[in-house]
Amino acid sequence: MDRFQNKSGFAIDSDPYGPPPSYDKAQAGTGSKWAPKNWTKKTMIAVAIGVCVLIAVIIIAAVLGSRAASGSYPDYSPLNYTLKDTYHGNDFFDNFNYFTGWDPTSGFVHYVPNTTAQQYNLTYAGEDSAVLRVDYNSGTDSSTGRFSVRVTSKQTYDEGLFIFDVLHSPYGCSTWPALWLSDPSNWPENGEIDVMESVNQGNTGNQMTLHTSKHCKMDVKRKETGDVLDKNCYAKAGDQQGCGVQGPKQSFGEAFNNIGGGVYAMEWRNEGIRVWFFPRGSVPSDIPSDVSNTSAPDPSTWGEATADFPGTNCDISSHFKNQSIIANIDLCGSWAGQTSVYSDEWGCPGQCTDFVANNASAYEKAYWEFSSFRVYQAN
Ligand SMILES: *[C@@H]1O[C@H](CO)[C@@H](O)[C@H](O)[C@H]1NC(C)=O
Ligand SMILES: *[C@@H]1O[C@H](CO)[C@@H](O)[C@H](O)[C@H]1NC(C)=O
Ligand SMILES: *[C@@H]1O[C@H](CO)[C@@H](O)[C@H](O)[C@H]1NC(C)=O
Ligand SMILES: *[C@@H]1O[C@H](CO)[C@@H](O)[C@H](O)[C@H]1NC(C)=O
Ligand SMILES: *[C@@H]1O[C@H](CO)[C@@H](O)[C@H](O)[C@H]1NC(C)=O
Ligand SMILES: *[C@@H]1O[C@H](CO)[C@@H](O)[C@H](O)[C@H]1NC(C)=O
Repeated sequence: MDRFQNKSGFAIDSDPYGPPPSYDKAQAGTGSKWAPKNWTKKTMIAVAIGVCVLIAVIIIAAVLGSRAASGSYPDYSPLNYTLKDTYHGNDFFDNFNYFTGWDPTSGFVHYVPNTTAQQYNLTYAGEDSAVLRVDYNSGTDSSTGRFSVRVTSKQTYDEGLFIFDVLHSPYGCSTWPALWLSDPSNWPENGEIDVMESVNQGNTGNQMTLHTSKHCKMDVKRKETGDVLDKNCYAKAGDQQGCGVQGPKQSFGEAFNNIGGGVYAMEWRNEGIRVWFFPRGSVPSDIPSDVSNTSAPDPSTWGEATADFPGTNCDISSHFKNQSIIANIDLCGSWAGQTSVYSDEWGCPGQCTDFVANNASAYEKAYWEFSSFRVYQAN
């Protein structure tokens, strides 16, 4: 019942409309010119015509309005991108802060600082790739939650073309991995863009999702190959699921890893947000795997996106700001760990938290491996 409370918790007038306006009985008298039985025939015809015209106008407006909504589509004409940031190589994790507070999504996890992450080898950056993993050492006490990592880029962004070259995605019962962008200290006002996200075995396809403040909907014309899950991006609507689109099966988990992963390209501009998934072997030639090649990709040559979030009924520049790149692996928590999800939907054994506490070896494959992240901007 937060209808009568604003965001800061101040109670507002529980009867914001005030008392009903007083009814002027004098106006309703039988002799009044407002009483229909006193109208002349001419007045009656005029009123009838007026009503008909009004109804016609309403119908025409409604039809045109819905046609406009279903027919209009943003102009995604090419932008001139230049390379802004490259995340790659031995210093990959120097570009990130390690989040160490309580997990905001109630996971059974201890997000560790960089020193602990290094000690347990939970983050490891080599020349060719960077690994971020869940602890699978059977000697660690995981009875109150398992060690894992959540890193947030120091750099923040207000637009851009983001190329995520991913070699391996985490999966397995209890896991809830994500590669996403957000401004966690201004959520959901500054928005959230989930590029890769799944739970448990992660074998039903990647979910690409926006979470926003009110008035951002995808009930409009879209051009995408993925399956629409929900159209309201408002973060607090329904089950707080946001507006998601599901990719093909090999876009996450074991099937993704078996093909050597692939590239996710996310373009965020005023006109809309689009995400493409390119399996390894089908990456467009204008996305060079060699990070020393600074030539910019051109999304207009890639064909239909996997997920398309046009700005038609969502003001992108006001709903998305100051985003950091975030990579993490949560365990259990408010999505993966719900009984209806963990047991009923995915058939995982026992209780999620028991699995986490007692089954270290199950986390050997629960790791992200990134080749590079590259960010291009047009302004
Ligand atoms: C991009 O650059 C080309 C050539 O430099 C120029 O012709 C074109 O107008 C530019 N487009 C935009 C959208 O700035
Ligand atoms: C670990 O984090 C601390 C504090 O943020 C920072 O000073 C230090 O440079 C980091 N060390 C490494 C190896 O990233
Ligand atoms: C740390 O992890 C990386 C990546 O998985 C691996 O190559 C390396 O051998 C590990 N180092 C140690 C000391 O276990
Ligand atoms: C850089 O990549 C582009 C494709 O985006 C390619 O056309 C070009 O030849 C590459 N340059 C070098 C020096 O490899
Ligand atoms: C932008 O994000 C950073 C990192 O999350 C945060 O510290 C900062 O307060 C934010 N700035 C604004 C203007 O919201
Ligand atoms: C441990 O994980 C394996 C799969 O990795 C699973 O088959 C087994 O049931 C799990 N054991 C417990 C006690 O949860």
